[in-house]
Amino acid sequence: MPTNTILVTGGAGFIGTNFIRNTLSKRPDLYIVNLDALTYAGNPGNFNDLDAAMAKRYKFVHGDIRDTGLLQKLFKENKFKSVVHFAAESHVDRSIHGPEAFLEANVEGTFRLLEAAGKYWETSEKPEVFRFLHVSTDEVYGSLEAEGYFTEKTPYDPSSPYSASKAASDHFVRAYFRTYGLPTLITNCSNNYGPYQFPEKLIPLMILNIIEEKPLPLYGDGKNVRDWLYVADHCDALIRVLEKGKPGETYNIGGGAEMKNIEIVHGLCDLLDARLNRSVNDSSRGLINFVEDRLGHDRRYAIDATKIRKELDWQPKYRFEDALEKTVDWYMNNMEWIDSVRSGEYRKWIELNYQSRKKE
Ligand code: NAD
Ligand code: DAU
Repeated sequence: MPTNTILVTGGAGFIGTNFIRNTLSKRPDLYIVNLDALTYAGNPGNFNDLDAAMAKRYKFVHGDIRDTGLLQKLFKENKFKSVVHFAAESHVDRSIHGPEAFLEANVEGTFRLLEAAGKYWETSEKPEVFRFLHVSTDEVYGSLEAEGYFTEKTPYDPSSPYSASKAASDHFVRAYFRTYGLPTLITNCSNNYGPYQFPEKLIPLMILNIIEEKPLPLYGDGKNVRDWLYVADHCDALIRVLEKGKPGETYNIGGGAEMKNIEIVHGLCDLLDARLNRSVNDSSRGLINFVEDRLGHDRRYAIDATKIRKELDWQPKYRFEDALEKTVDWYMNNMEWIDSVRSGEYRKWIELNYQSRKKE
């Protein structure tokens, strides 16, 4: 691979896939190596339809970010210009059922990657241009009441094993900047939605259940609030931070689109009913089923994105209503992709997570 190559970890997952596809198209000078362990959430086939020019600038490596030998080999062979680190276990409910995988992938994984990147950077020919971008979450800040926003200065207060593991990884990344000077950048982003999201997360799960006329499981009273961002906007923000961000800094990224879960589900029911010609009397809203709440369920997330807007001139381009429609259409037009990711493992997960939740 040429010198203008970046290492993307976890690029076969939801945001990584969107990031790689967007970046290959918007930065025709860049080459990308995608290192992914292909857990249940990774799909290497997401790149099968790249055009020939983009495919030449893309390489997939099947491997784990905890494999130090592999990391050293990749850094040596490719002389990466930067690292964009997505690889993680990312689903809160899974972290409640099995926290250890989160410690291993998110904490140990990030640590091994920092170590390998740090050793490479120390001996690099161009250490001044190297960047390590760690993609993190707003969940590290804990839960908000009805008022207020997360800023980059909000103290960490994670609630779930997932957010605790991401918080720990953020601390390691910051420590590698402060202690060793490794040029790191951290982003903390709100809830993403869009193409290629694994159908265990709220929006794709609900889309598929509506299509298949299955119950729509809303946790608790359905009034928890998330701040939704279309994945393409997140990817643009990440390119901006990678290219223009200041090493050692943290940037919050959010959509400014706060919604209660029940509002999202009502919106999806109405959108899909229109597309599926379901009548008002037969509204999919009737499938809504309030189930037992998530343990430690954070009530509200909301991002103050002033810093990235002012310092890096980024703001979301997509309106929530339009991007939700695009998302619904993508799932309706990509049922083959959905079938390919809904393996036996997926069905086992749905049984484990939802059978134990009592119905209303
Ligand atoms: P995802 O679960 O869809 O994908 C994660 C990818 O990482 C998968 O392809 C998986 O195979 C890979 N992976 C897991 N463990 C690995 C390991 N040990 N070595 C190599 N690869 C491994 O996740 P996502 O939703 O795309 O999230 C990507 C990143 O963005 C995560 O770090 C997550 O914390 C963060 N984030 C996600 C959101 C969101 O709304 N989805 C919001 C903010 C931040
Ligand atoms: O805020 C950023 C985070 O957003 C990311 O760091 C995580 O990786 C990502 O998974 C997401 O976390 P959430 O827990 O907010 O997303 P999820 O889609 O699992 O749930 C969104 C909301 O919907 C949450 O309040 C729980 C609720 N929910 C979820 C599921 C799966 C339901 O009511 N029913 C469900 O079946």
